[in-house]
Amino acid sequence: MSGFLIVKNIHVDLGEFKIEDITFIVDEKDYVCVIGPTGSGKTILVETIAGLHKPRKGVIILDGRDITSLPPEKRNIGIVYQDYALFPHMTVFDNIAFGLKKRISKKDEILREVKAIAQRLEIEHLLHRKPTTLSGGEQQRVALARALIVRPKLLLMDEPFSALDFNTRTRLRKLVREVVSEYGTTVIHVTHDFEDVWSLARKVIVMYRGRILQYDTVEEVFNRPCCELVASFVDINVMSGIVVFSNDKTIVRVGDIEIVSKDRVCEGHRVKVFIRPERILISKSKPVSKFDNVVRGFIEDLERQGNILRVQVRIGSICLKCISTPNVLGSLDLELGSSVYICFRSSDVRLLVES
Ligand SMILES: Nc1ncnc2c1ncn2[C@@H]1O[C@H](COP(=O)(O)OP(=O)(O)OP(=O)(O)O)[C@@H](O)[C@H]1O
Ligand SMILES: [Mg+2]
Repeated sequence: MSGFLIVKNIHVDLGEFKIEDITFIVDEKDYVCVIGPTGSGKTILVETIAGLHKPRKGVIILDGRDITSLPPEKRNIGIVYQDYALFPHMTVFDNIAFGLKKRISKKDEILREVKAIAQRLEIEHLLHRKPTTLSGGEQQRVALARALIVRPKLLLMDEPFSALDFNTRTRLRKLVREVVSEYGTTVIHVTHDFEDVWSLARKVIVMYRGRILQYDTVEEVFNRPCCELVASFVDINVMSGIVVFSNDKTIVRVGDIEIVSKDRVCEGHRVKVFIRPERILISKSKPVSKFDNVVRGFIEDLERQGNILRVQVRIGSICLKCISTPNVLGSLDLELGSSVYICFRSSDVRLLVES
């Protein structure tokens, strides 16, 4: 096995909860998000990598060094929590300089480094303040600066934006993206927010009951989940069908309809058919071009969620979830029971051969 971070066959027992047989590799400078239902073991996983839980079995190798038995402070890993965990009695400057002071004794050098990172994270004007006088977004930037200043080999973040409001979260996400890319930091980031995954991560780990269900690129996990559990967690339409034609395109019979996909699968195979809700367009009249899948159905359910509208469209024995905006649906004058066309591209339809 080779890779920058190698987590191999890790088992951790914590009273009634266990994480079991966790194996994955992270490349240098990669950005990996960890998702999964609450209580699935995401925090325990990152805390185990950080050295806060001792595995019963398994190995953790970081940049060629076996760190499995090293104490947390010897691992060269930075960690950022949801609740910032800053030292309240110290100024922002001292919080940021904390880890650096253990390595560098020259005062002017420390000053220069702290100023540089504070400038990068736009908190230079806060250096003299105490953390309790700062907003959540400011505190989280201090926590990031404190973690990054020592140039850790690995940065672990456990729901770093979840206590922040929407705008602060969006700004901080952009800042994190820029800074970790500039610093070349390798990141593992636990989150419940798919926006984090889409805008930051290249790969995703999906955890469930202490195990990894899927570890793949964002594109694969969100478009071709490996099992029903991941599919329901990433909120994608899943149907079962059989391939009835295969050439430059694949046609799958699903219930009473035929669905065209660009994925290549041989005739006769049973497949799972995936289509993301936001890739489906709802139309009142039959569209003339662009879509190679156009199916007629009726609106079975409408539910407003924030500024989006979740729509369920029934087509015979199949029900597909779609996402629209109240504006679009309002302008189409649609309501429960309305007859509609749903349209999607064959390139958005993913197939997975059933074993
Ligand atoms: N120190 C501990 N000792 C015993 N059990 C623990 C300990 N820490 C966590 N647990 C339990 O392990 C399970 C997984 O916890 P964990 O905090 O890793 O979940 P999580 O996936 O991070 O959830 P969330 O999304 O809610 O943060 C939970 O049932 C929790 O109660
Ligand atoms: Mg957690």
